[in-house]
Amino acid sequence: MRTAILISGRGSNMTALLEAARQPAYPAQIVLVMSNRPDAAGLARAAEAGFATAVVDHKAYPDRASFEAAMQTELDRHGVELVCLAGFMRVLTPWFIERWTGRLLNIHPSLLPAFRGLHTHERALEEGVKLHGCTVHFVVPELDAGPIVAQGAVPVLAGDTPDSLGGRVLAVEHRLYPLAVALVASGRARLVDGRVLEHDVAG
Ligand code: GRF
Repeated sequence: MRTAILISGRGSNMTALLEAARQPAYPAQIVLVMSNRPDAAGLARAAEAGFATAVVDHKAYPDRASFEAAMQTELDRHGVELVCLAGFMRVLTPWFIERWTGRLLNIHPSLLPAFRGLHTHERALEEGVKLHGCTVHFVVPELDAGPIVAQGAVPVLAGDTPDSLGGRVLAVEHRLYPLAVALVASGRARLVDGRVLEHDVAG
């Protein structure tokens, strides 16, 4: 499935997806890495690795509608069928999200529905939860509220700081996102009537 990765920053999840997609049997083919920030570290890394890249700088557009229309043009130009948000830091409008229903994934650094939004590791430590983790979900207009495709959990350890906990979660993100993208790209997990249906294509 022709897949785009949308980033805004360092792109470590992007790198994990690019690595996974090197396997010939992997069901997603990364045809575009797109960033809203020209200086995103991940963009340079993707270009160096030989992937097609695009910048759609949100600051160059007067409003969200024209910014998203420009992103949509790039996605169309590359024949993209599946979009993976990987540290993409712009809130998307219902216009864009509904256009991509069932074909737009995000990775979020918490066990949703706990800790939607930002600063998830700080908040997990403040709440004193003993399990934390990450979630890959289909994107819906409500922020971090979409149907869940996969989750990975880590323990919260005594003495954890947001950085130590975040690092433990990030290592799991790098395994989880490629697995979840493979589930969706192969059709083993899909969005039907607002719920994730899973089936084993081999079974
Ligand atoms: C990750 O923690 C991801 O869960 C969140 O943003 C961060 C992006 O990190 N959505 P990276 O750019 O993939 O390194």
